[in-house]
Amino acid sequence: DMTPLILANATEAANAVAERIITLLQDKPDAVLGLATGATMEPVYHALIGAHRAGRVSFSRALSFNLDEYVGLHPTHPGSYRSTMNRLLFDHVDIDLSRTHVPDGMASDIERAAADYEQQIAEAGGIDLQLLGIGRNGHIGFNEPGSPLESRTRQVRLHAETLAANRTFFADARVPETAITMGIATILSARSIVVLATGAAKQAAVAEALAGRFDAACPASALSAHGDVTWILDSAAAPGA
Ligand code: GLP
Repeated sequence: DMTPLILANATEAANAVAERIITLLQDKPDAVLGLATGATMEPVYHALIGAHRAGRVSFSRALSFNLDEYVGLHPTHPGSYRSTMNRLLFDHVDIDLSRTHVPDGMASDIERAAADYEQQIAEAGGIDLQLLGIGRNGHIGFNEPGSPLESRTRQVRLHAETLAANRTFFADARVPETAITMGIATILSARSIVVLATGAAKQAAVAEALAGRFDAACPASALSAHGDVTWILDSAAAPGA
């Protein structure tokens, strides 16, 4: 069922996403989480930290796998997704960093690092809940338009609009042009998927994704092939808003 849950504003939408994750961890403390970066996710992580401080949720037995990472950025670079995740979530909750995974953008052999990442996910038993944002051009993870449905973790080249959208995360505005990302098939292997989109800039991509059939021009439209996807939107991102 691709009927989206539409909430009044971005904070409420993010809180609803956080509650899904909290409920999962309460039921299954050793859940495998698929995590995402992007400005959209910041209030989700803020809510998770609050819930952790309130004693409502523990991450001590969880495992996590992030969707993607820039190629060539050291994990300590503030723009890397590894340092972003540490800063926004991991440093503030009871998760052991050794249980968190982000693709290795510094590997000398990215193809091998990508295969290793797929294997680590498989060895963990697969992802229970994959958290997803959506790019303005419909990308998921860093799977840009044209990405094949059967794609797995691999190196990709970022499109100009994605580089432009992500410039704000870099003090020097220099966004790496290549990344390592889970593929569309990797994402679809998760047992459940929660997509969060907020703000008017996402409305067109969301409408395209919800159209109901796979169109390679909008990678998020691949989600219609999955049996357990929850779309959580604010009113500005909702189709027809
Ligand atoms: C980035 C990330 C995606 C994210 C998307 C939207 O490029 N690789 O995982 O979902 O773009 O980002 P934002 O939430 O900042 O709009």
